[in-house]
Amino acid sequence: MANVAVIYYSSTGNTYELAKAIEAGAQAAGATTRLLKVRELAPDEAIATNEGWGKHIAATQHVPEATNADLEWADAYAFGTPTRFGTISAQLKQFIDGSGGLWFAGKLANKAATGFTGAASTHGGQEGTVQDLHKVFTHWGCILVPPGYTDAIQFDPANGNPYGVSLGDPRGGEVPDAIFAAARWQGERLARVADVLAMHRDAIAAPATKA
Ligand SMILES: Cc1cc2nc3c(=O)[nH]c(=O)nc-3n(C[C@H](O)[C@H](O)[C@H](O)COP(=O)(O)O)c2cc1C
Repeated sequence: MANVAVIYYSSTGNTYELAKAIEAGAQAAGATTRLLKVRELAPDEAIATNEGWGKHIAATQHVPEATNADLEWADAYAFGTPTRFGTISAQLKQFIDGSGGLWFAGKLANKAATGFTGAASTHGGQEGTVQDLHKVFTHWGCILVPPGYTDAIQFDPANGNPYGVSLGDPRGGEVPDAIFAAARWQGERLARVADVLAMHRDAIAAPATKA
């Protein structure tokens, strides 16, 4: 079965909740998974401005930090980030920018990849953020696995994001179940596609890169 790396950045926990649901979906499809955060880069004085930020850091000490070895291990990537001014967070970008050596060696290519995000508002730029993740995956030569409308949950008005699941800030309220169901479906579909790709990776590799 496929190895799936769910790699995320989260300041206050929303993206983390989605990441866990994506991982659960991948596991339901039989995948071996790693749930990994990227390194926090913000200075302490910035973190101190938001009580929820520090609490989330303390509550996720047990989550390992992602490394390039995880990128090499995985057959599939699910990357998640809060939307920051319509695009991905600096913390996740910093991790991505450390992948140059693997990219140059062709170690990131032909893997299944999907993106997810959170934002404060319903139309706060979620789709742009996920498409920016898609751009990275495109440069890596990954096979994009957006959820599209491949399951009934994608038609639920509370979700309905074919690019990748996105969560609007709960602001003390409940997150609709449909969001987490969509996240689980996205993870499950990623793992299923990754299984198929892993079985045939040699068939899609360029002749010069075959082992
Ligand atoms: C610097 C900054 C920029 C943000 N930019 C946006 C934005 O462009 N659109 C939006 O809807 N929310 C924006 N937000 C809100 C976050 O995306 C949102 O609260 C998200 O759910 C946080 O996820 P997290 O709990 O995983 O950190 C921004 C937050 C910060 C701190």
